[in-house]
Amino acid sequence: MIVLKHAKDYNEMSKMAYSFVKNVVKNNENAVLGLATGSTPIGLYKEMIADYNAGEVSYKNMVSINLDEYVGLPVEHPESYRSFMNTNLFNHVDIDKANTHVPNGLAENVEEACKEYTDFIKAHPIDIQILGIGANGHIGFNEPGTPFGSTTHLVELKEKTRLDNARFFEGDINKVPTHAVTMGLQDIMEAKQILLLASGANKAEAVRDMVYGPISPDCPASVLQLHENVIVVVDEAAGYYLKA
Ligand code: PGA
Repeated sequence: MIVLKHAKDYNEMSKMAYSFVKNVVKNNENAVLGLATGSTPIGLYKEMIADYNAGEVSYKNMVSINLDEYVGLPVEHPESYRSFMNTNLFNHVDIDKANTHVPNGLAENVEEACKEYTDFIKAHPIDIQILGIGANGHIGFNEPGTPFGSTTHLVELKEKTRLDNARFFEGDINKVPTHAVTMGLQDIMEAKQILLLASGANKAEAVRDMVYGPISPDCPASVLQLHENVIVVVDEAAGYYLKA
């Protein structure tokens, strides 16, 4: 079941989102956090850091598992998702980096690395999975057409996704990697709770299709209609088509 939460703007969306994360991290010092990259969760991570600095929460014994990573970018590249997570969250809280997991985009045997990632997720059930949504309805890098039964896998990125992300690569689509490794839709659906955030008018149609559309791989996020515990926090622009 999807529960909708309406925020005024990005800032309020981030604060609302943190209230759900806080509920998990305050009550379980061993929580397993499913984390996402992109512009959307940055405000949420700022809230997590501020509350950590206020002495409210310790991440010392927590585990994190990220959704996806580009293929072929060195880990220290500023746009690798490992760098993103270090910069936007891990460097600012007391989580043990050894317990933070991001798919390996440089594995020699990608298939084997993907299988290990899915096995790791199974062995460490995610308490709360944070998600953004792509303008085409993707979650993680599960692009339209991805089977609902997918586990961690290699994907070729759609041109639309690469264009959307070119802003992080000096606006040059040619600098955006062509492939990524992503948790599959089945891995995501195994999380105990899912918290999806969406901000901005360019997400409004994808949000509408996720919530009301047919449950179909054409809109990968529509699979969330089949999950028992999903919270979707939207700002006004992203929630444009939603009924109150
Ligand atoms: P964004 O990306 O947060 O940068 O908009 C979301 C996504 O593509 O999943």
